[in-house]
Amino acid sequence: MGLVPTMGALHEGHLSLIRLAAREADVVAASLFVNPTQFAANEDFGSYPRREADDIGMLEAAGCRLVYCPQLTEIYPPGDSTRVRVGALSEDLEGAIRPQFFEGVASVVTRLFAHLGPDLAVFGEKDYQQLLVIRALTRDLGFPIRILGGPTQRDPDGLAMSSRNAYLGAAERRQAGALPAALQQACKRLAAGEAISDVCGDARSSLLSAGFSSVDYIEARHAETLSPMGTGSATAGVPGRILAAARLGTTRLIDNLPFQRS
Ligand code: PAF
Repeated sequence: MGLVPTMGALHEGHLSLIRLAAREADVVAASLFVNPTQFAANEDFGSYPRREADDIGMLEAAGCRLVYCPQLTEIYPPGDSTRVRVGALSEDLEGAIRPQFFEGVASVVTRLFAHLGPDLAVFGEKDYQQLLVIRALTRDLGFPIRILGGPTQRDPDGLAMSSRNAYLGAAERRQAGALPAALQQACKRLAAGEAISDVCGDARSSLLSAGFSSVDYIEARHAETLSPMGTGSATAGVPGRILAAARLGTTRLIDNLPFQRS
């Protein structure tokens, strides 16, 4: 069984994960659960889009045969106090800005794995740090589950598909393409060997010039550990990942791309 965990409000990005799971597994299952523990009190848990009936129709059409829609108390029974924390990998980047996020994700994914016992599970590369955190918890807790990353699906202007893109107003949606454009430009310069601090600094400036209200981070890291990349020839040929989070009005967008220094 291949599992695709989701919080619903499905789009083509999720459906591509279902199709990937269907190529690798005999039976594809998905979960629909808006997980409260990964939201901070000031975040959008209450307003997160919920359209379960539509989601189930889309899942069925994409080849999913089992949909798990647990109640809150099935995931977090009364009196529950167990949480899963994945050390240093989860404390940087997204974890530094949203300190509750990865503990919430790790806690719910651990329960989904325990309840459903899949052979493999698929997560989108759009949430790249989340994918690495889930790989780490799967290894550390000894789940016999193969974790696959599905490529980010993008709109024609390059914007990574996300349920939260629905929050963007029309003008913001036009500006949002500046995020993937800045990352693509940065990747070219990183591959050419330019200094990481200059490249990331320029990418940050280009986002602010394009109308983004703030940039939480733009960082070029080792692709497997997310540790900072050194300078000079030691980084040549090492797989890297540039990761960014930035805000357009009240909407927070994240994205990432692979690069390799020559
Ligand atoms: O990526 C998501 O949609 C969520 O973080 C996940 C993995 C389903 C856990 O709630």
